[in-house]
Amino acid sequence: MEILVLGSAAGGGFPQWNCNCRNCSGVRTGQVRAQARTQSSIAVRADGGDWLLFNASPDILSQIRAAPDLQPARQLRDSGIAAVLLMDAQIDHVTGLFMLRERGAPLPVWCTDQVAEDLQTGNPVFRVLGHFCGVDRRRIVPGEPFCVPQVPGLRLTPVALSSKAPPYSPHRDAPHPGDNIGMLIEDAQGHRVFYAPGLGAIEPQVAACFDAADGLMLDGTFWRDDEMIALGISGKSARDIGHLPQSGPGGMIDSLARWPGKRRVLIHINNTNPILDEDSPERAQLDEAGIEVAYDGMRLHFGD
Ligand code: MLT
Ligand code: MN
Ligand code: ZN
Repeated sequence: MEILVLGSAAGGGFPQWNCNCRNCSGVRTGQVRAQARTQSSIAVRADGGDWLLFNASPDILSQIRAAPDLQPARQLRDSGIAAVLLMDAQIDHVTGLFMLRERGAPLPVWCTDQVAEDLQTGNPVFRVLGHFCGVDRRRIVPGEPFCVPQVPGLRLTPVALSSKAPPYSPHRDAPHPGDNIGMLIEDAQGHRVFYAPGLGAIEPQVAACFDAADGLMLDGTFWRDDEMIALGISGKSARDIGHLPQSGPGGMIDSLARWPGKRRVLIHINNTNPILDEDSPERAQLDEAGIEVAYDGMRLHFGD
């Protein structure tokens, strides 16, 4: 299986358009050694075939331009992206669907009932796309494995996560299983990767996926639980908005020590997170723990 990281930042990207935090201003001026990053999305394929897009970021057009593999050019109108799968209905994960509207046929989109409801109501992306290519919506049910016919060779097992539905969701304050999912991705040779860009807690069903996987690509949004509060940009903690912070007791680094033998990669990194600064002590701490930080254009291969 091959995984291409199209966008490794959280909502807002890095640098964020209106942000002058240490990281954002430092990457603009060159005073902080860091790479700019676009918003959260990966593409996955088996055996060199077409790609399954996990989340459609607002930056999708520049992400596609930066990845020639996504354009095999077999006919006048063509794409290597054969289907889309959504992990939640957040703006940073669904807005790119609008950019795929020029398709000649309905876009296959795999998502849970909760995400489909959000995209028909609170943020009616599916209704709008109905005026263009249309959406061929396919149902994901947490706990029920499935295959995507357009992307053969992958078996997918979705798991419900404790995280957060978007602010415009009818279930923002009444969480439903399926508002946010993680995905165990398995190829025909049995290589397995667990992907969860928004993860608030490592519950038993999530720990079971970690056990089963060879590689983990996990929520890297915040270093500290009070990161946004300390900067004075939000009154909410990381955990309040469904993201497990990296530092502290029970944080991501602490938790991942239970899975030392796996490839562990953080993705969906917020622009305020000090791990973006390659010279920071926080980044050194991750290096020490053997945890990688995803970057745009990163490729991960499992098997041949
Ligand atoms: C989140 O996952 O919490 C988002 O990145 C928020 C957003 O897109 O604004
Ligand atoms: Mn996000
Ligand atoms: Zn910033």
